[in-house]
Amino acid sequence: MHVTPIHPDDDMFQGSHEHYYSVGSQMADFVSHATELAGAHTPIILELPCGYGRVTRHLATRFDPTKIHVADIMVPSVDFCIGAFGVVGHYVAEPVYEYANIASEAFDVAALGSLVTHLSSHNARTVIVHFFSKLKSGAVGVVTTHGEKSREHLGIADCYQVGEAARQHLLSSFDANQYGFVNYPTDHSLETKTVDYIGDSYGISIIPTDWIKSVCEENNLSIIEHWPGAWDGHQDVFFIRKY
Ligand SMILES: C[S@@+](CC[C@H](N)C(=O)[O-])C[C@H]1O[C@@H](n2cnc3c(N)ncnc32)[C@H](O)[C@@H]1O
Repeated sequence: MHVTPIHPDDDMFQGSHEHYYSVGSQMADFVSHATELAGAHTPIILELPCGYGRVTRHLATRFDPTKIHVADIMVPSVDFCIGAFGVVGHYVAEPVYEYANIASEAFDVAALGSLVTHLSSHNARTVIVHFFSKLKSGAVGVVTTHGEKSREHLGIADCYQVGEAARQHLLSSFDANQYGFVNYPTDHSLETKTVDYIGDSYGISIIPTDWIKSVCEENNLSIIEHWPGAWDGHQDVFFIRKY
């Protein structure tokens, strides 16, 4: 079987093929679960963001690629996913947290994997509101956050390479049940190509479950399942239904 090589600019690949494929496949499992929760047999799927297809490559083997829509702010990553996996691509345009060029109320299932993990509270709220505006009523979205498990990891070491003061800020915010966000320091070495492309609005967040609950309550959304640390033993996974 032909396996599409990992793109050389894919920051999600950090040296282990096994880990890269396992994390991508886990998110595809969450999307499959969301499909069951939504009761959709031939779902129209939105994956936002897609990056260079760590997850898309698994979705495209499980679902009809022509019914998978992907979007990202990095134009070459969208082009790669279109060409390699045969999915429908959308380039994220200004204003970059609103997704005006993606159809509203069009999707049965959607994945928001590892984006609000990198955004301020204001930008994360905007993204969640606009992301769910793309879903049909009754559809289910998968949203991942740095939550309880991240707090555990960050309590042990500076796993996001943000520096000691920023690490303490994230920890104390989470412990006070507040949304925490810091920019990456200039000398960090994680996701460098992504940060170079996007700029310093991109950093690290840590998000208490109560914050997600309140955004859902304000927007006619309901958390139907919450799996702490379920993505790679790290990110929290929320299955959220739109009413
Ligand atoms: C941590 S990566 C996750 C990619 C993919 N979901 C995965 O799990 O492999 C975050 C992605 O968000 C994209 N991104 C950053 N800001 C964005 C925005 N405003 N809208 C859409 N995508 C954005 C980046 O280009 C990057 O590909």
